[in-house]
Amino acid sequence: MPMNLTGQTALVTGSTAGIGRATALLLAAAGATVIVSGRDADRGNDTVAEIIDDGGRARFVAADLTDLGSLRGLAEAAGPVDVLVNNAAVQPLSPAISQDIESFDIAVAVNLRAPYFLTAALAPAMIARGSGSIVNVSSMTATTAMAGVSAYTATKAALEALTRSWAAEFGPTGVRVNAVAPGPTRTETVLSGAAAAFGEDGEARLGALTLFGRMAEPSEIAEVILFLADDRSSYLTGAVIAADAGRTAA
Ligand SMILES: NC(=O)c1ccc[n+]([C@@H]2O[C@H](COP(=O)([O-])OP(=O)(O)OC[C@H]3O[C@@H](n4cnc5c(N)ncnc54)[C@H](OP(=O)(O)O)[C@@H]3O)[C@@H](O)[C@H]2O)c1
Repeated sequence: MPMNLTGQTALVTGSTAGIGRATALLLAAAGATVIVSGRDADRGNDTVAEIIDDGGRARFVAADLTDLGSLRGLAEAAGPVDVLVNNAAVQPLSPAISQDIESFDIAVAVNLRAPYFLTAALAPAMIARGSGSIVNVSSMTATTAMAGVSAYTATKAALEALTRSWAAEFGPTGVRVNAVAPGPTRTETVLSGAAAAFGEDGEARLGALTLFGRMAEPSEIAEVILFLADDRSSYLTGAVIAADAGRTAA
């Protein structure tokens, strides 16, 4: 059975770049109408244009997820959705002893508060229809210690806890909630941020954390999100799928 999201609407937060962009492209290729979102309209419209060029359906809705008014506007502009991918996140790179409060608060707002209230806004229509799939994008660092990213890892561990709690709340209604926890993935932000912080050979060193000895391509993570969005994963809820080339298994 091929992945088939024809007739469904999917909202992917943070789909102006990286894993979110790759996810928007795959969901659209599977037939979904995709709502692309982020702050950067140029990059958002680029994602939409690529989907439309490929024969798919998409539109861009700008939103700054640090702002609750903007988040409400996104939920209203999206309307009822069948698939919600809570993907947008920021990663403050700092040891705990020098973590500034502003970046900490932004990480909590984007990585935790926004998925919480976006889900709260969009789940009621899914519950009323008796179906829907919510996919949270976590990180291997929610379960594997890494120095210098503790604020980020705390938000991701909380998101995994929410995945289980929401699965319990929504499961009886037919709405599934799962998470994917990626390993190091070749997105611009990570190549210029975390990988660069590891030094000149940062990409190789991040890749070496995994059993495959390499970083993931964004599309390799997006494939897992697509599977969780689609009915082919119909017996999965409350699951966190480790897409990390064995990092957390080893
Ligand atoms: N890449 C990795 O190695 C890796 C590993 C584990 C987990 N993850 C997780 O995978 C997800 C995607 O990561 P990525 O590397 O693809 O990220 P990325 O390339 O940095 O993209 C982040 C996305 O989030 C959006 N975003 C950031 N701040 C926002 C805000 N205030 N309001 C609205 N949107 C905002 C950005 O859009 P705008 O700039 O347009 O606002 C962008 O589309 C994240 O949840 C991340 O934690 C990534």
